[in-house]
Amino acid sequence: STSLVLVAAAAYLIGAIPFGLLLTRAAGLGDIRKVGSGNIGATNVLRTGRKGLAAATVLLDGAKGAAAVLLGQAIAGVPGVFVAGLAAVIGHLFPVWLRFRGGKGVATGFGVLIAASPLVGLLSGAVWIATAAVTRISSASALAAFAAAPILAFALHAQQPVLGLALAVAAMVYLRHRTNIERLISGTEPRIGAGK
Ligand code: G3P
Repeated sequence: STSLVLVAAAAYLIGAIPFGLLLTRAAGLGDIRKVGSGNIGATNVLRTGRKGLAAATVLLDGAKGAAAVLLGQAIAGVPGVFVAGLAAVIGHLFPVWLRFRGGKGVATGFGVLIAASPLVGLLSGAVWIATAAVTRISSASALAAFAAAPILAFALHAQQPVLGLALAVAAMVYLRHRTNIERLISGTEPRIGAGK
């Protein structure tokens, strides 16, 4: 329907705001895409040494995912939640402003999940924190958390469309972590806060 198309377009544009890039540029740090992994996410912002900017990036990238979902829900109910969540993550991954080369969807995906199901979102976040505490590797923590998200949605009998959303977001996060997975396998993935 018309309202779902509207929701998809609005959520895509909200998701496409590259907060990591904007914040680091505003702070005079140049182009974050030339630092570390080249990613625009909070993990890579932390590689500039600016913890406050990294925290702001994860909060804002998460907030935009949550905001998109709440907007989708207000306009189009349950289908709106699904379409908005998907579109917001797609916007973050493929932002029109950056020639469709965006981030990896972790913070935005958490924001989407938390808005769609606080329990599933926050428990997935707890999996990220627990994995990070043990491994100190951001990508491994994201891969563990987004593997857990659909399992949690299923096990907790989350209402529609949380399971579908968790599966779709997890698939996108995994696809965008291909080079991270290669580095994890070869043992060269850097730990959180390390230079590169
Ligand atoms: O948030 C993305 C994270 O999982 C990996 O980031 O910069 O280490 O590729 P990065």
